[in-house]
Amino acid sequence: MQLKSRSSALISDPIGSDGESLPHVIAVSSGKGGVGKTNVVANVGMALTKLGKRVLILDADLSLGNLDVLLGLVPRHTIEDVLAGTHTFDEIVLKGPADIHVLPASSGVPHLTTLTESQQLIIQAQLAQFASGMDVLLIDTGAGISTSVTFFASSADETLIVVSPEPTSLTDAYALIKVLARQYRERRFKIVVNQAKSPREAAEVFGKLDVAADRFLHVVLELVGAIPYDDYVPMAVMQQKAVLELFPDAPASEAFRKLARQITQWPKPVLPKSSMQLVWQRPATHAGN
Ligand SMILES: Nc1ncnc2c1ncn2[C@@H]1O[C@H](COP(=O)(O)OP(=O)(O)O)[C@@H](O)[C@H]1O
Ligand SMILES: [Mg+2]
Repeated sequence: MQLKSRSSALISDPIGSDGESLPHVIAVSSGKGGVGKTNVVANVGMALTKLGKRVLILDADLSLGNLDVLLGLVPRHTIEDVLAGTHTFDEIVLKGPADIHVLPASSGVPHLTTLTESQQLIIQAQLAQFASGMDVLLIDTGAGISTSVTFFASSADETLIVVSPEPTSLTDAYALIKVLARQYRERRFKIVVNQAKSPREAAEVFGKLDVAADRFLHVVLELVGAIPYDDYVPMAVMQQKAVLELFPDAPASEAFRKLARQITQWPKPVLPKSSMQLVWQRPATHAGN
């Protein structure tokens, strides 16, 4: 087991590698849909490329993926073809704006919300080959507590959970954190509050989640970003462009850039953040070599 250099179970560490060429793996999840995950992934991804990082985005919202739509891309093949064994990530990858690389998901394939163990191994093996040389791998996991969400969230280096001020967003985020804490022994979560009307509202939203998670689940939450509610975001969505690209001076664009700058400061974890990563490290290592 190669703990010295690699923590993410999603990508195996080639024998002899010092892990330097492997990306920092960040899963972006939420309890409920519609809170802004896809916009966070697309805009933070673009902001990171503008900071000189090589960014790969995996649209792992397997049943309702729409990152390609948001970025105005037209995929010919998707991760569904990779899981079926007919294509490789190399063959499905799309070049997005600002040179981000996007691995598109299929849309409207409900059965893909659960991933079998062999499908998980296919993804691990494919990523091991494809993602080396990237600085950051951002994963849009989709929403909820299905096995595909919990697989990606628990095997990434960082779990970033997006919440909005809606009460259902908070209760559903709590439910996701609970599953990741109880079943996958996750202990640390990074939180982004999206669509808050003021910094104060963002702090209040985070505070409510933090108190409950600390008291009942004994996990540590960290507020890493607050993206304001901004009418420029839906305007950009309508034009199938990232707000950062279309309206670079919009308040949300500034907040996405700030979050991206912060991400570049996060140290690559040396130790796994969940015990599941240790379990998965073994098959991943074999699959990648
Ligand atoms: N910061 C924001 N301000 C205003 N509207 C937003 C913001 N973030 C997201 N939205 C709106 O919410 C909708 C859902 O966002 P999306 O990123 O697709 O959510 P998810 O991926 O979590 O389902 C978008 O179409 C957009 O119009
Ligand atoms: Mg989405």
